[in-house]
Amino acid sequence: MATLWFKFLEMFLQRRNRILRANASIRSLVAETVLTPNDFIVPLFIDEGENVKTEIVSMPGYYRMSIDNTIKEVKELYNLGIKSVLLFVKCKDELKDNTGKEAWNKDGLMQRSIKAIKNAVPEMYVMTDVALDPYSEYGHDGIVKDGEIVNDETVEALVKMSVSHAEAGVDMVAPSDMMDGRIAAIREALEENNFTKVGIMAYSAKYASCFYGPFRNALDSAPGFGDKKTYQMNYANRIEAVKEALTDEEEGADIVMVKPGLPYLDIVREVKNAVQVPVSVYNISGEYAMIKAAAKMGWIDENKAILETLTSIKRAGADLIATYFAKDAAGILNG
Ligand code: PBG
Repeated sequence: MATLWFKFLEMFLQRRNRILRANASIRSLVAETVLTPNDFIVPLFIDEGENVKTEIVSMPGYYRMSIDNTIKEVKELYNLGIKSVLLFVKCKDELKDNTGKEAWNKDGLMQRSIKAIKNAVPEMYVMTDVALDPYSEYGHDGIVKDGEIVNDETVEALVKMSVSHAEAGVDMVAPSDMMDGRIAAIREALEENNFTKVGIMAYSAKYASCFYGPFRNALDSAPGFGDKKTYQMNYANRIEAVKEALTDEEEGADIVMVKPGLPYLDIVREVKNAVQVPVSVYNISGEYAMIKAAAKMGWIDENKAILETLTSIKRAGADLIATYFAKDAAGILNG
C-alpha cells in the first residue's frame, strides 16, 4: 500500500535534473570522468640523423625526429606529467625486405632509440610497436608468401623483434600485427630469456581502417599490394572484438587495446566489460587529422575538440589513451 502511494506521489513530483548542472563547482563535483596526463601514451616517430624534425604532411603539428630531438621531447613530456611513450621508427628503404630482419637488428634505429630514451629519462615508461610493416618491402605486417601474409612464420619474426626490444631495455612491447598466437609466443620467449618484467600491450581489437592513412604516410609503410583485411578486423563486427581481447588476455597480455578510437567507442565499452586487464585505446592518425583539418578551417575549436574527444574515449572505458594530442591535452589540463 505504502509503495503504491509513493508511486502515485512520484507522478506529480517535478524532476530537477538541472540542479547538478547549475554551475561549474557542482558540475566538477559530480563529473564521472576526469582526464589527467597519467592517462596518455605518446606515440613518437623516430628517424635516422641528427637534429632532424620533419613535419608529417598528413599530420600537421606532428613530427618525425632524430634520436637527439626525441630525447628533448621525452624530457618535455615527462615534465608535463606524461609517463609513457610508444615508439615507431622510419626504416630506410634499403633495409626493407620480406623477412623484416632489420626489426631485430641489435643496433637498429629502434634498439638505439630505446636505449637512449631509457638512459636519458629512466622513469619514462617505454613501449614499442611490434609489427613488420615499417621493415617490410611490401608494407605488410607480416611475411608475404604467394601473395598471402603467413601467420606462423610471422609470429617467429615478431618474437625475435620483441626479445630484441627487451634486450635494448623496453618496458612493454605492443604487438600491432593481428597475427594469431603471437601474445603467447612472445610471453614464452620473454620468459625463456629472463625478461620477466617486460609487459605486453596487445593491439587486440584492431580494425582494418581507412583512418590509418596519415600514419602510413608518416612511416612510408602503406601496403604495396592489397589491403590488411586478412589480419585486421572487419569494422562490421563486434563479437569478434571481444573474442580477440579474451584470447589475448588468456595468452598473457597485460593490457589489451582497441583501435581506432572514436568510431569504435561501443567496442571499447564491450571489451572493458569483458576483460580483467586495463584497456587502452589508440586515438589514431586519421582522428588527429580530422580535428586538425576542421580546426584549421575554423569550423571547430581545437582545444575543446581535443578534451571532448579524449574524455569520451575514457568515459567509454579506456584506462589509457595513445594519442597524438597528449602533449596539447596535458598542456591544457595543467592550465
Ligand atoms: C603498424 C601500425 C599502424 C598503426 C599503428 N601501428 C598502421 C597499420 O596497421 O597500418 C596506426 C596508427 C595510426 O594510424 O595512428 N602495424
